[in-house]
Amino acid sequence: MKRVTIPAIQGRKGGEPLVMLTAYTARMAQLLDAHCDILLVGDSLGQVIYGLPSTLAVTLDMMCAHGAAVVRGSYHAAVVIDMPFGSYEAGPAQAFTSAARIMAETGAAAVKLEGGEAMAPVVAFLSQRGVPVMGHVGLTPQAVNALGGYGARGRSEAEQAKILADAKAIAAAGAFAIVAEGVIEPLADRLAAEIACPVIGIGASARCDGQVLVTEDMLGMFERVPRFVKRYGDIAGAITDAAAAYAADVRARAFPTPDQVYRPKG
Ligand code: KIV
Ligand code: NA
Repeated sequence: MKRVTIPAIQGRKGGEPLVMLTAYTARMAQLLDAHCDILLVGDSLGQVIYGLPSTLAVTLDMMCAHGAAVVRGSYHAAVVIDMPFGSYEAGPAQAFTSAARIMAETGAAAVKLEGGEAMAPVVAFLSQRGVPVMGHVGLTPQAVNALGGYGARGRSEAEQAKILADAKAIAAAGAFAIVAEGVIEPLADRLAAEIACPVIGIGASARCDGQVLVTEDMLGMFERVPRFVKRYGDIAGAITDAAAAYAADVRARAFPTPDQVYRPKG
């Protein structure tokens, strides 16, 4: 099966919603691939995999290693890889060097970067040189220190106008799709209606052109998740139950049983 292409994603504007989930490992990619149009190797792996307090310390090395694993584990979905904090904001040349390394080392189809009007020249530079770029506006976690937290965006008129201008600027610069994160629903609806490329929501609106969630959040890996997460599983419960059952068996010498041991031949 041929992978979902970037033009095919662009063609979904206003059509059947795009399905996107995060993946950081080959096995998770294998399990999600058939169900998704896009697999995102998000820099959320900083918190989810590495236990970091934010995405700010995530490195290009991490994104390349996990990105390559996700590409190896999938054959259907388009794989998009987050550019980590500090790898693109200095300008187009820095961004291209970082993006080229990500594309070459992973085989991914595209990169994603956070920001609006200020990042438009970077988006244009990459897009015009064979690197498809997905934008990310609204609640942009790499700017947590500037934003003052992870609260919803667009509650004031001025903030709404800024986020709309940000999305328009990176769409005009050539972004093939834009993630709108943590924006109040009416603003998300306006973004979906007014931006020419697909707008993929997270904590946004059901009327976006697609949805994305952090897979571990929707699987129920964590006790505390943002309000916008719907839980579709209880993986933490399943793991806890399995670990407790294993521990009890080991302590009772109930594992291994004859089925799990090697006997001499004949
Ligand atoms: O890093 C990430 O997982 C993301 C998505 C939540 C959009 O950027
Ligand atoms: Na991210």
